[in-house]
Order: sequence, then structure tokens, then C-alpha cells
Amino acid sequence: MKEAGSLLPVILSNVPLQADPDGLPSAAENMDVQGESNMKKLIKGGTVVTAGDTLEADVLIQDGVVKAVGAGLDADGAEIIDATGLLVMPGGIDPHTHLEMPFGGTVSSDDFFTGHRAAAFGGTTCHIDFALQAKGETLKQGIQTWKGRAVDKAAIDYSFHIAVTDPTDETIAEIPRLIDEGVTSLKVFLAYKGVFQVDDTAFLNVLNSAGKAGMLTMVHAENGDAIAMETERLLAEGKTGVKYHNEAHSAIIEAEATSRAVDFVEMTGSPLYIVHVASGQGLQAIRRGRRKGLPVMAETCIQYLHLTDEDIATEDFEGAKYICSPPPKTAWDKSIVYECVGDGTIQTVATDHCPFWFDGTKEGRTPGKELGKDSWAKIPNGVPGIEDRFIALWHLGVNSGLITPEEFVALSSANAAKIFGMYPKKGTIAVGADADIVLFDPSEKRTITAEKHHMNVDYNCYEGMEVEGWPVKVLSRGEIIVDGDKWLGSEGRGQFVPREIDGAVL
Ligand code: URP
Ligand code: ZN
Ligand code: ZN
Repeated sequence: MKEAGSLLPVILSNVPLQADPDGLPSAAENMDVQGESNMKKLIKGGTVVTAGDTLEADVLIQDGVVKAVGAGLDADGAEIIDATGLLVMPGGIDPHTHLEMPFGGTVSSDDFFTGHRAAAFGGTTCHIDFALQAKGETLKQGIQTWKGRAVDKAAIDYSFHIAVTDPTDETIAEIPRLIDEGVTSLKVFLAYKGVFQVDDTAFLNVLNSAGKAGMLTMVHAENGDAIAMETERLLAEGKTGVKYHNEAHSAIIEAEATSRAVDFVEMTGSPLYIVHVASGQGLQAIRRGRRKGLPVMAETCIQYLHLTDEDIATEDFEGAKYICSPPPKTAWDKSIVYECVGDGTIQTVATDHCPFWFDGTKEGRTPGKELGKDSWAKIPNGVPGIEDRFIALWHLGVNSGLITPEEFVALSSANAAKIFGMYPKKGTIAVGADADIVLFDPSEKRTITAEKHHMNVDYNCYEGMEVEGWPVKVLSRGEIIVDGDKWLGSEGRGQFVPREIDGAVL
């Protein structure tokens, strides 16, 4: 794996720059058959923020990519986008989503169009979804199924991880061949016994095989055997209310699996990315591993910076809205998540976007959380957030003083691009990068509410949160797809992003 240093951002200095004279057509040529995507655009007067730098600079875009970054740029015939008073940041990259995923006896309620449109309204222009291997199937078949779901619907760019659920010898041997499919990261679940869970032998085999091939292993770290035992005990005791989800998924169940995963990194030497970390004790294990120099990285999700176990532990059914695995934990756990976002123990803030209707019985909806009215164990696990992440992280992270704007870009975009082999095509604003850009007004105040969101789900985890800072224009490969509250994107325009091996270990 490459060190992060070999992938330094290539943003130019604030010296005035002229566009590359060979690379740019004349104004007349500019309006050719390719229309909008080929037009020159000049973002003028804004403050460009990347993970490495903040500078007053204009950004010239052509053919969907950044052609120049610098102060006082001028480009004949370009459409001018006035960014006075705005921040110009790389579009968000959400490295953990589940669109249209069959799960828990139903399917997640956002597909690759509704999820993408919602993501874009929230400032996210790229995501990596989890394709799943079905039992008896190859990994490649799982990837093809998910590519088929996305191709005609996609409105922003996307890529896939593949989850290994049938770890036969053939599956393990297939791992290096996935590089040809543009898929360079694999996930194992240590939870969901009897569904997705794999044992330690399989986990070690995946780590070894992926590590040798320059690929990255990811892990859902909760002890599925312990969850199954606790679930059986709680249900036998008649404990069917929503609050018992927390008991079956206690902090130690997450911490034990996380600590084991860190030890497996030491045994194999292979890099590991631990997804959706919510427990303080789990983060302490990760910190211990990182201090030893082990190639272990951590992702948390935006809900763990907002919710706690008390949001689930309601006497009525409301808490079902927030049921996910691992569940948000105590206020202490949340404080450690904050600390680790601030001190660099955590590299990415994702969503694990996996929405289910609170009331899926209404016409046109897929079954949702109501499936578990008589028992928390039947509630589909997952929460929405793809639209909220970028905005809520700015508000909770930057406005609170926990992180700088540059660190915000790192956590919301650049680090995911580096770790998962998409940098510098994605995750930065630099010459040659895709023009996936958010114009962000740091002074715009709004209140997050399900009434106004675009996600295909009837509640919002951040309902009533008054935020300061909002994406006012969103560009995907140079095309304005969100302009204020207007949707200008289209189904099928999003592209699959093939990824490289040897991403950075941050
Ligand atoms: O509750 C969750 N997290 N649902 C999505 C699947 C997973 O575990 O990532
Ligand atoms: Zn998971
Ligand atoms: Zn997930």
C-alpha cells in the first residue's frame, strides 16, 4: 500500500493562471454536440478548500474536469458561476451505502436514482455501495448484479465494494481477479449470523488474499454469535420492545470484534478498514493498533455524532427509526467518537445509508420498520443519511470548532478517495480532477426536516436540527445538477468509477 504522502493534492498556488492553450477549444467550438458537459465553466470569486489548502481562487472546468485553479482566471466564452462569499469544495464521497439492498425481509427504500438525487442535494457527488455475493454465486456475479441495478438509474458517480458471504476456496482464489472489474475493496461481516456472517478462518483468508493483491479488506465488527445468543435470551424472557436491540448489540459485543479485528491485522500485516465504528472501547482498540503502526483505519457514521442509545430506548415504537447495527451507544461512546474524529483516529465519516420506511404499509412503499412491531429482532436494520451527512458534519464538526474546513474535506471526501483508490480523480479540486464540486454557503441557515428532504423515506434522523452552512450549487463532472432547491440532474448520467489497487493507508 502506498503512503498518503505519495498522493499529495496537486492544487495550484494562487498565482494567476491561464488555461492550457492546447487543451481548450475556442468559444465557438465550446458549444459543440456534447452540449452542457463540454462547456467551459468558470467558478469565480470563491474560496477553494481542499484537504490540503484553502485559497482564494477561480476554477476553470472543461469536459467535466478541472483545467485550471488560480486567482484572476479568465476564459473566453466560459459560463461564469459567481461564487462570491461561497466555499468551493470537492463534492462529498460517501464510502458506505446500501441502495436498493434486499435486507431484513424487505429492501432499502432508496434506489440508485432517488438515493443519488438526495445525495446530490446534500453535497455528495460520489459514493461506494456494497454489492453482496449471494451464496453459491461468484464475487463477480454479485458485482454484476449491483452494476445492473445502478447503470440506468445513476445520477452521480458510484463504485462498489463486494461483501464476501460465501467464503469457499474458489471465492478466496477469485479475489485478485476483481481488480479487472474495478473493485478493489472487500467486506466481511462478523455479524448477522446465518445471513452474511463469516467465521474467523474466512476473515483471515480474505485479509491474506486481499492484502497480497494490494486490495483492502473492510469489516463489520460485532460478534454475531454473541448477538444471536443475547437475542435468543431476550426473546425467551419476553423482552420484545425496541430498547432491547441495544442490549443484544451492547458496546462490549462491538468492542470485542473490533479488538479481534485489530489483532488480525497484526497477525496478517494486511490493511483493514473498520466500518461504522460506534463504541468508545472499539475506538480505543483501534487507537492502540494505530499507535503500534498497524495498517488499520476507521470509519464512523454521521448518526454516531448525533444519536445515542436513548433515541432507540423508547417505550413506544419510535425508537425503531434509529435501529441499526451497531446501534448508537451511550453519551460517553459518542464523546469518544467525537474525540477520534478530531484527533485523526477516524479517517472517514460515512452514512451506512440503508433507509427503511417507518410506515411501509402505505401504498407504493416497501415494507419497513413496522415489520418488527411485535419484536425488535424483526426490525430491518439501518438508517437514512446520504443527504444529511455533508451538512451535518459541517455543522457538528466545523461550526463546533472540532475540525477545520480542510479536515472536513478530508473526512467527507478526500480520505475516502485516497483509501479506496479514486484519488486524485475524485476528492480534490486540482488540474485533471473530475469537476465534482460543491458551492457551499457557510452562512446559510436551514432546519433539517423529512418534509423537505429528498430521500425516499418518511423520517429524518436529524429532524429539527438547525444548521448553518448549506450546499447551494452542486456540480458533477462539470454539470450543474443541483441549483438551490432545483434538481437539474438526470437518471442514467452517473458513471461507474473503476478503482485502483494500493490505495493509501492513512
Ligand atoms: O444497520 C445497518 N448497519 N444496516 C446496514 C447493513 C450493515 O450492517 O452495514
Ligand atoms: Zn455493517
Ligand atoms: Zn453498512
